[in-house]
Amino acid sequence: MGQSILLGISGGIAAYKSVDLVRRLREHGHIVRVVMTQAAQSFVTPLTFQAISGHPVGCNLLDAASEAAMDHISLARFAERVIIAPASANIMARLAHGMANDLLTSVCLATTAPITLVPAMNHRMWHNPITQANIARLQQFGFTLWGPTEGAQACGEYGLGRMLEPEEIVRCLESTAPIMTSPLAGKNIIITAGPTREPLDAIRFISNRSSGKMGYALAVAAQHYGAHVTLISGPVALPQPNHVRLVKVETALEMQQAVIQHLPQGDIFIGAAAVADFRPETSSTHKYAKDELSTTLALTLNPDIIETVTQFLPRPFTIGFAAQTHDVKLHAIRKLTEKNMDVIIANQVGLAEGGFDSDVNTVDIYSRDGQTHFPCQPKTTLAYQLIKWIGDYYGAQKI
Ligand code: C5P
Repeated sequence: MGQSILLGISGGIAAYKSVDLVRRLREHGHIVRVVMTQAAQSFVTPLTFQAISGHPVGCNLLDAASEAAMDHISLARFAERVIIAPASANIMARLAHGMANDLLTSVCLATTAPITLVPAMNHRMWHNPITQANIARLQQFGFTLWGPTEGAQACGEYGLGRMLEPEEIVRCLESTAPIMTSPLAGKNIIITAGPTREPLDAIRFISNRSSGKMGYALAVAAQHYGAHVTLISGPVALPQPNHVRLVKVETALEMQQAVIQHLPQGDIFIGAAAVADFRPETSSTHKYAKDELSTTLALTLNPDIIETVTQFLPRPFTIGFAAQTHDVKLHAIRKLTEKNMDVIIANQVGLAEGGFDSDVNTVDIYSRDGQTHFPCQPKTTLAYQLIKWIGDYYGAQKI
């Protein structure tokens, strides 16, 4: 669930990456207000952060105009969480000694929110015993540290001191986010995601267009609502979500086997995978030469995994997806009934925006109690809304 995040930017070349960090935090539903040190403004302009965060940027402690807009105490109150990225050796030294000689340090002294430092500096500055002593002192006061990592540095040297990448920072934040109370807390949720691949030979396969982004985002959101999540995924190019049990499969038959194996523990099943409806009748572990292949391909029907689930006893609460190019509502309601699901989440694909491979989606949920519309938004924020809705609906059914 979105938090009010105060993002502090201190002086370092990694500040340019924090522009992307703000964008990603907002995509995850967070409200971000940026405070910059004077040195940070030499690397990126406050206007950039204003445009990307959608809020004025705090730069000065003793400036009447900015204190009138949002003073350091209001900023300290606004923050449910403070993240300083990049955190330079200088800001850490100042914080370690309780200085309040600019807006960022003053806010840090005034806030009761947890403060996380994401350091970025030359590896020699990082290893300097003075920096290390400051860090130890800050940790004693409850500051947490994400990173740094080892790698090539902007100065041309190599070592420990690189700032975590924006997506890694977001992942750290997600894994420590408070777990929301929900009827899903403690429930076992099985989610299928991504496409399946149906091999013809060692090289060739048939598959469906699917990035897996929606299923993975649902897994993360369900975990944050306190569920135990098993994510059964076809081949995708996505990082493994934290605190989620990931089972990797290739084919529809493998996906079905993995689902059956986990079903006895499953309270809720979400079928977000784009399962291939057919597989080649025969396949080979060696590569066919072109002249061994024919221009027609004999296919066999794959099992319907959702139907396997809804026939299982005890039957889990079952949610499916319907990606349609036309007559979305008609197809969705037909599938809801035919496949005996509790809920179906439908979206139109083939439009300029949304659906397959896209980062955004527009969906409607159908159940026997009606229809709920969710407007176009990033799949990551949509996932939280869908999981919240599913939790509430599931909770109401159980009463
Ligand atoms: O492909 P179709 O539109 O029928 O998919 C609707 C739902 O059924 C989706 O949730 C999908 O994951 C699931 N499905 C399945 N096994 C199949 C085909 C689809 O579980 N073989």
